Amino acid sequence: NSEHVARRGALIVLEGLDRCGKTTQCGRLVSFLEGRGLPVEAWRFPDRNTAIGKMISSYLMNNTQLDDQTIHLLFSANRWEKRLLMENKLRNGTTLVVDRYSYSGVSFSASKGLDVNWCKAPEKGLIAPDLVIYMDISPEEAAKRGSYGIERYEQLDFQKKVAHSYQILLDTTWKVIDASLSLELIENQIQELALETIESCPKMPLSSLWI
Ligand code: TMP
Repeated sequence: NSEHVARRGALIVLEGLDRCGKTTQCGRLVSFLEGRGLPVEAWRFPDRNTAIGKMISSYLMNNTQLDDQTIHLLFSANRWEKRLLMENKLRNGTTLVVDRYSYSGVSFSASKGLDVNWCKAPEKGLIAPDLVIYMDISPEEAAKRGSYGIERYEQLDFQKKVAHSYQILLDTTWKVIDASLSLELIENQIQELALETIESCPKMPLSSLWI
């Protein structure tokens, strides 16, 4: 009976352009939730530790060349290979704070000209997040934040296309945060959204993306 069913964890995803501050905020959120004694883990995609992740990493560092469809499917496969673990963690009550997910997958590939529906197809059936936070920053402002690194997508012209692609995916369930605000203001908004989600999500079953 329901009294004995453990509370499931929440799947919380942060999305945004390169240099929007996602990684910093993911770290801060995980520390905050840990401080409250909540079971939580920091995850990120691509997960560069797996064999597929190493291929992705090599591509991003411009050490290998792959056509756009192939790298798209590798990014997707990198999420699929973590899907079961993700489900088990959530069902066991662990909240996952995830730095990028399928929305990055679709936005970045669509920005190269691939069809959006083609890009979404391999993501279908992955676990749908309980909360998507979009850290909104203009590509120009993001570019000013320290120099872009040497990775493949860290170029202003491409980031402009990615910003446009995110707008196509964005739906009313996403929480958009102004990523030009101070770290602390952003942190507080994210904490509030995360706590609400952790509180309410156990009433909702896990669901699948885009089906
Ligand atoms: P990272 O800097 O967050 O590790 O992400 C590496 C790059 O890979 C970043 O520019 C976004 C891009 N990316 C995709 O193109 N597709 C994906 O599915 C994911 C997760 C990231």
